[in-house]
Parts: sequence; C-alpha cells; structure tokens
Amino acid sequence: MGTFSLVVVSNRLPVDHEDGPENADGTAAPDVWRTSPGGLVTALEPLMRSSGGAWVGWPGVADRSFEPFQNDGINIVPVRLSAAELEEYYEGFSNDTLWPLYHDVIAAPAFHRETWEAYVTVNRRFAAAAAASAALGATVWVHDYQLQLVPRMLREARPDLVIGFFNHIPFPPYGIYAQLPWRKQILHGLLGADVIGFQRVADAGNFSRAVRRLFGYPTRGVVIDVPNGDDASSIEAGSTGARSTGARGAGARSTGARSAGATRRVIAKHFPISIDAAAYEEMARRPEIQARARQIREDLGSPKTLMLGVDRLDYTKGIGHRIKAFGELLAEKRLSVEDVTLVQVASPSRERVETYKVLRDEIELAVGRLNGDFSTISHTAISYHHHGYPREEMVALYLAADVMLVTALRDGMNLVAKEYVAVRFDGDGVLVLSEFAGAADELKQAILINPHDIEGTKDAIERAVVMPKRERTRRMRALRKKVSENDVAAWSASFLRTLTGGAAVQAGIP
Ligand code: G6P
Repeated sequence: MGTFSLVVVSNRLPVDHEDGPENADGTAAPDVWRTSPGGLVTALEPLMRSSGGAWVGWPGVADRSFEPFQNDGINIVPVRLSAAELEEYYEGFSNDTLWPLYHDVIAAPAFHRETWEAYVTVNRRFAAAAAASAALGATVWVHDYQLQLVPRMLREARPDLVIGFFNHIPFPPYGIYAQLPWRKQILHGLLGADVIGFQRVADAGNFSRAVRRLFGYPTRGVVIDVPNGDDASSIEAGSTGARSTGARGAGARSTGARSAGATRRVIAKHFPISIDAAAYEEMARRPEIQARARQIREDLGSPKTLMLGVDRLDYTKGIGHRIKAFGELLAEKRLSVEDVTLVQVASPSRERVETYKVLRDEIELAVGRLNGDFSTISHTAISYHHHGYPREEMVALYLAADVMLVTALRDGMNLVAKEYVAVRFDGDGVLVLSEFAGAADELKQAILINPHDIEGTKDAIERAVVMPKRERTRRMRALRKKVSENDVAAWSASFLRTLTGGAAVQAGIP
C-alpha cells in the first residue's frame, strides 16, 4: 500500500478480526472481519469510504500481525499490540484511568506508572504507523482518548503534516483533570494538533482552562497561542501555571501555522458528532425491517408501550438508574407489566476490566430481581440481552419502541439517541434523554432528565408513556430536523474545513 492524503488514526479499526473455523483438512480458514463496536466507527465509516484514505488502528486481537488490506472500500493499516500492551495500554491506562477520569470519576480511576509507560510506547507505535501511511503534506486525523500523545509525536516526526484530533468522550473540569499525574504530558501531546475537536462547548472550555492553568498559554475564544518550540521542557516547567514567554500572534497563520519564533495557533472547539441519518432512515423504510419491528412487538406479547434501552454495558450509561426508576414505577403501580415492557440491550464491553465485571453482576442482579418481583407468566418486565446486534436488528428495535431511554450519567455524545430519532420517519416515538449526554445540547425537544434524580426520571418516563400523539409528533419533528441538518457528513466536513482551511473540500474530501 502507498501513502495517502487523508489518514485516520483510532485505537480500534472499523473491523475486528475473528478467527474463522478450521477447514475440514485442518488448514486455517480465511480471516473473518466483523464491524467493531462503538460510536466512533459508526461516525467515521462514511467519510473513509468516500475519501479513499487509510485507517490506522488495532485489529481487536493481541499478538497478531496483519498486512495492510482493503475492506469494503476502506484501506486498513493494522497496528500490532502484544497481550501485555493490551492489558496495560488499553484495559489499564485507557479504560481504567482515562475513561473513568474523563467521565466525572463515576468509577474511581487507577493511577499506575507502568500502565502510563505502556500508553506512551503504544502511542509512539500508532504515530509511526500514521507517519508511514501519510503522503507529503497529508491530513492526519487522530481520534479519542486512547491516542492523546499521537498529535505531538506526529508533529515531531513529520512537520509537513496537518494534524487534527477529535476527542469522542467528555473532557473533564479542571478539578478532576488535575488528579492525573501525567496531566501536563497529555495536554502537551494534544497541543501537537492544529485543531482539537470536542463534543460540547463545555468540553472545549474545560480543555482551554486546563491549558491556561498548567501552561499559562493565552487563549482567546477557541484559539490557543502555543509558543513554537514548546518542546518537552514545557512539561517540566512548574507544576501549575508556568507563564508562556512566546511572542504573540506575529507571523502565525490561522491554522496549521508553523512560523519559527512566533506562536502557533491551535484551535480547540466543539464539533458535535453525528450519524449517517439518511442511511438509518433508508433502512427503517425497508419493508422487511418494518415487518421485523412488528414481529418484535408481537413476540413480546404486543405490549401497549414498548420501552427500549441500548447501551454498551458501561457504568457511564446509567443502566442501573433506569432499572431502579422502572422498578419503582411498577411497585407504585404507576405502570404495569401488562401494559409496559422494557427491552434492554447491553452489549458486552471491556469485559476484562474489573469495574466492568462488577457492573455486569450488579445489572444482572437488578434485572433478575425486578423480573422476579414483577414479571408474570405471560409478561416479562425487562427483556434483557447481553449481546451486540446487527444494525438492521437495531433499526427494527428502534422502530418498535414507543419510548427510548437514554439515562447516561456522563456521555460524550450518545449516538443511540440520534439513531432513534433518525429511524422514526413515522414521526412517532418519545426520547427520554439525560442532560449529561452531549446529545442534550442539540436534542432539546427530548424529555430531558437528570438520571441521578430518580423521582424526576420516574415522572419523565410516565410522561413519555402517556404523551398524546400530537405532542409526540411535534417533538419528533423538531428532533429529526436537528439530526438531519447536522449529520455525520456535516460533522466531518466542518472539522476538516477548520483543519485545512478549505483545502479538504477542494480535494474532494466531503
Ligand atoms: C466509545 C469510545 C470509542 C471506543 C468505543 C468502544 O465510543 O469513544 O473510542 O472504541 O467506546 O469501546 P472499546 O473499548 O470496545 O473500543
């Protein structure tokens, strides 16, 4: 494979490797690749298909090397991780330190020096793979919290590149961020980018405040003036707020500026991510998917109201809070199992991380208890599924659901909320949405809730169940307008336009 003018770098590739079954003669069957989980893949696939760029990432299994290959129109560049690196960089530093820290310390983050070392090593490998895949002057777009050191490493290796970074998860307030022993190294890594994108205005603000507090670099709105030559020594300078000596402005271009001696402008701004809304709607309009939606309702005993929750099994998603609220509504006889069923899809995630193991036990205990208390022979209160489902089945579930429950305690965006809205071309369906999900900034016509407030959540669920058709339609119309206006193509175009000052659009990158 050659080099590319657009390179996307993310921890996970859009496809995970699966060992195929052996052939009858004992020889290994060809590699099988399946779509990997999470919002990031859903969001970037359309861009990659239309741009012909390369996607650098981990193929989902340890200790396996794969040559670059093409999958479904996307150039895939696999990065190898050893089993030990997977444990320390992925399960450890990424998902047991950064993930809980960036999600409001809902779970306690672990701080271990060894896992930090692995994070640095692996970030270096991703940076090297990206540098090797990028043509002269290429645009490299790095994604998410697993790879925050890559922008700086890339800039040092390849000053010709235009480098963007997008953080798919929240960026925490300074009081929380400051707990990280490597808080300066991470900021310094990110500041290697020309544009740093966040989901919400608040995330970009938190980031800029952390830069001011820890480095003292001046910020004006979305612009941060980073002194040229802010090498690793800036990390050593003072533990809080060393003032910058960099000359301001002179000679610095708007983005991607690199004039010696002056400052380099870095943009830190919100770019709320979205989905391919038209593709979801198109799927929902297929007769076989509508038939499947009807079938789902019938199989569940044709409840008057079908409520749905769809999440990775993660403690940030507030699944326990949702179950508690539903259980209390049943106990208080404000809802009855004859009328209402909750379908909860909890797709397996990060199963080797202890917090996730504990969470699974807690959720399954709560589901079992609730069903034990309230289900009847003919009506199951919660239909619980610990699997991922293909996209078609998810669309049928969204179509079948009268009420969608998104009760995240903290979530970068929550694309499930947007998928539900995109699918409801019939103009029906009610979205109950946590104000702590990024989606709440745009989807204001949902019933917004604070999931910590169980009474408020119960009221919102009850309101959703009894909402008159006219109000449902009015709200859904407004929600659909939002999602179709800001779809994933608009999101990536807006980020890339900011990054390359229009050059991407001219080059035919949407
Ligand atoms: C979130 C993160 C992604 C991640 C996905 C799935 O959406 O923002 O970076 O890929 O979860 O998690 P996993 O750990 O399985 O990749």
